[in-house]
Amino acid sequence: MLILGIDTSCDDTGAAIVEDGTKIISNVVSSQDEIHEKYGGIVPELASRRHIELIWPVVTEAMTRAHITFNDIGAIAVTHGPGLIGSLLIGVCFAKSISFVNQIPLVAVNHLEGHIHAIFLEASPDFPFIALVVSGGHTSIYRVDDFGVYREIGRTRDDAAGEAYDKVAKLLGFGFPGGPIIDAIALKGDPLAMTFPKANIAGSFDFSFSGIKTSVMNYVKKNPGSKKEDIAASFQSSVTEVLIERISEVVKAEGVKRVVLSGGVSANSALREKIGHRAIKEGIELFLPSLYLCTDNAAMIASAGYHHFKQGNFAKYDLNPKAYLPLVSATG
Ligand code: KG4
Ligand code: ZN
Repeated sequence: MLILGIDTSCDDTGAAIVEDGTKIISNVVSSQDEIHEKYGGIVPELASRRHIELIWPVVTEAMTRAHITFNDIGAIAVTHGPGLIGSLLIGVCFAKSISFVNQIPLVAVNHLEGHIHAIFLEASPDFPFIALVVSGGHTSIYRVDDFGVYREIGRTRDDAAGEAYDKVAKLLGFGFPGGPIIDAIALKGDPLAMTFPKANIAGSFDFSFSGIKTSVMNYVKKNPGSKKEDIAASFQSSVTEVLIERISEVVKAEGVKRVVLSGGVSANSALREKIGHRAIKEGIELFLPSLYLCTDNAAMIASAGYHHFKQGNFAKYDLNPKAYLPLVSATG
């Protein structure tokens, strides 16, 4: 069964055709990085306008690459939150329209659920597993007991890890998005050159990244001559260590030695390398999606949508996007 996935949650316009929730037939992502780069961050109004221009061409391209028409599609899966409300609105309105006109069932997918499903496009982890969703908008740890069965175990209390990367990159004078740039520059720096705080929130598995960001800002002000490569490497070292420590703690607390990473920051080379070592050391079965599936894409939305479809969990035409949408278990 073919599903058309659509994701316009943030600044990328994505459409994909996925078969049976696991096989990517086509996957088109149109990045808006060049638009937002000069502002050093995403400008929501510009993102929504660009989604309007791109949504038809991107969906058409996904269908053309898959050599299919609307008659071949079993369902349309669209991200309805969380994300930028203006951006989400374009994807949801578009999906509702083509669903109605072509009489194709519609399913609504939580963007975070989509990220967790990215791995099913390449592997088949057994349940239960611990999922870390670490992106520009979110940093949360879930226990996943089955398709659609989630329990949040920890979350960031302030900034997301990706947001910290983007903000630190901005204050170091690098471009946008900052994550991949810091990742590359950090390779040339010393991760032990300076120590940035690793927030530990007693009695919880939560994260806090705003302190690291502020500490980097203060360091840069006080030490204007210091090597940016060292700052980038030391900052990255703090962030990745916190993420890995917390996962390790959750694995022990839950007694679940299976971990799935997802979201833009899971493309980070240092995080992937270090967590790989830790997984071997602690006997954890680790699943890392390919880099192009870590960042926003619609194939992961189609994959998650397939399970909603199988459970008869359809959306109605009164579906509205939600900027804030916690990931909870599907009610069927
Ligand atoms: O999942 P994603 O594409 O969009 C959201 O749902 O937010 O994640 C984007 C975030 C950005 O903050 C970006 O800087 C970060 O992921 N990112 C990275 C890397 N690639 C993307 N952070 C660290 N290292 C990377 N290689
Ligand atoms: Zn995302």
